Amino acid sequence: MPVRILGREGEILVVEPTRIGVVGCGGHAYRNVLPSVRQIPEAIMVAFCDLHRDKAELYARSLGTDAVAHEDVDEMLDQGGLDAVVVVVGFDDETGEPLYPPVVERILRRGVPVWLEKPPAADVSGVRRMAAAAAEGGTFAQVGFKKVFSPAVHRLGQLIAQPEFGPVTQYSYSYDVDMPAQIGNLRSPSGRRFLDDFVHVASVIDQLFGSPARVQTVRSPSGAGVVLNVHADGIVGTVNLANSRSGLAPVERLEIVGTGASASLENGAYLRYYPPGTRGPYGTSTSYLPPVTDQAPADLGPRVWEPEFSLGNLHGGSLFVQGYFHQMRAFVDAVRAGTPPERCGLDAAARVMAYLDALVGDFDSWRPVAGQPDVAHTHEVDEPQEFSCPDSGRAMVLKDGWNYVCRDCGRTRSGQSADAITCGAGVRT
Ligand SMILES: NC(=O)c1ccc[n+]([C@@H]2O[C@H](COP(=O)([O-])OP(=O)(O)OC[C@H]3O[C@@H](n4cnc5c(N)ncnc54)[C@H](O)[C@@H]3O)[C@@H](O)[C@H]2O)c1
Repeated sequence: MPVRILGREGEILVVEPTRIGVVGCGGHAYRNVLPSVRQIPEAIMVAFCDLHRDKAELYARSLGTDAVAHEDVDEMLDQGGLDAVVVVVGFDDETGEPLYPPVVERILRRGVPVWLEKPPAADVSGVRRMAAAAAEGGTFAQVGFKKVFSPAVHRLGQLIAQPEFGPVTQYSYSYDVDMPAQIGNLRSPSGRRFLDDFVHVASVIDQLFGSPARVQTVRSPSGAGVVLNVHADGIVGTVNLANSRSGLAPVERLEIVGTGASASLENGAYLRYYPPGTRGPYGTSTSYLPPVTDQAPADLGPRVWEPEFSLGNLHGGSLFVQGYFHQMRAFVDAVRAGTPPERCGLDAAARVMAYLDALVGDFDSWRPVAGQPDVAHTHEVDEPQEFSCPDSGRAMVLKDGWNYVCRDCGRTRSGQSADAITCGAGVRT
């Protein structure tokens, strides 16, 4: 039945509501998840459930619309009238495993779509449990991999898909979390931290490059670590886990290298794109700015985007910069359309957890990621190119790793660029 609600401009709207139940009335729900739901006018929170009934009641009173409180998920579902449920619970006190599979499968089995926070499970089997329940209930779930929905990561995906970017060859991701002595041990604080944070990194890698096919972990006794990823299509990537940076430094940085172009994202918000271009020939170029030519206009250069924090816009708020709002908007849209979400469904969660599962085990050894093709790359040794000097006609020889020289006149040219002779001023070596 249509209801009257307030829109973003404070205007009165009449809409068919999406009635949402909330399970887990904790800190993250209060700060980030439920305020994002509140930014979707037609999404109305009508039921709140927490093991602490008092908390559920206070949340219902302060964030709900004629909402009721419950302390048990089944009791909330029995009440009926829910179009979707948002689940923001934490970890099991005994096992350290995420509480999502046992809670979420009860809801999915009853045919109600679920949005669940990360980490979705301790391993891929937990995600499979939820997928089986979704299939049984004829419904779907979306996992809170918020970074995938952040405007900057979304734009990175669009930038690297441009033909001029060429195929991605490598990426390096740096993130502020330590590598535990035992990945997968969720009773150890560092093991749980790793699961909690690395899923963010893994979800972005999965979204932008697909799942790695082969992985290796390297760890310093200090807890500093590196994850090496090899993808079946030839992309190589590293994740640098830096646990001893300054607390004043950004938490993350991602650089992606294409074929002649590259892009980077710092702090989840500062986006740079380097289109194809060159600064001019090595050794003789006298300006750091690229020469202007028919193909290279005067404004050829990096493009930089950063958030604007001056005006009363939504887009500078953390809910909008970090993707909290966008993931919830996508979920509510999926619920209203009755179709599974395009991003971060249980299929993506299964790939992310299969990747994490492959990281469990000894350091310094390669392991395959389940469900991914074998990596069978061949490596070809390159041969020197063949150039002849336009003056002497003599074959030019490789002078270093980049340049060729005529040993008669000293004429030098790059082996990297398609430019013809780049230095012909009689330079002798
Ligand atoms: N995406 C992000 O950026 C981000 C940031 C912080 C936390 N998180 C995630 O959010 C989740 C919650 O974190 P938090 O710090 O808010 O935890 P919290 O402990 O403050 O809140 C969890 C709440 O869930 C309730 N709960 C647990 N089991 C329940 C059940 N079966 N039925 C009903 N209620 C139940 C608890 O009583 C508690 O109130 C975690 O999964 C965490 O990893 C995500």
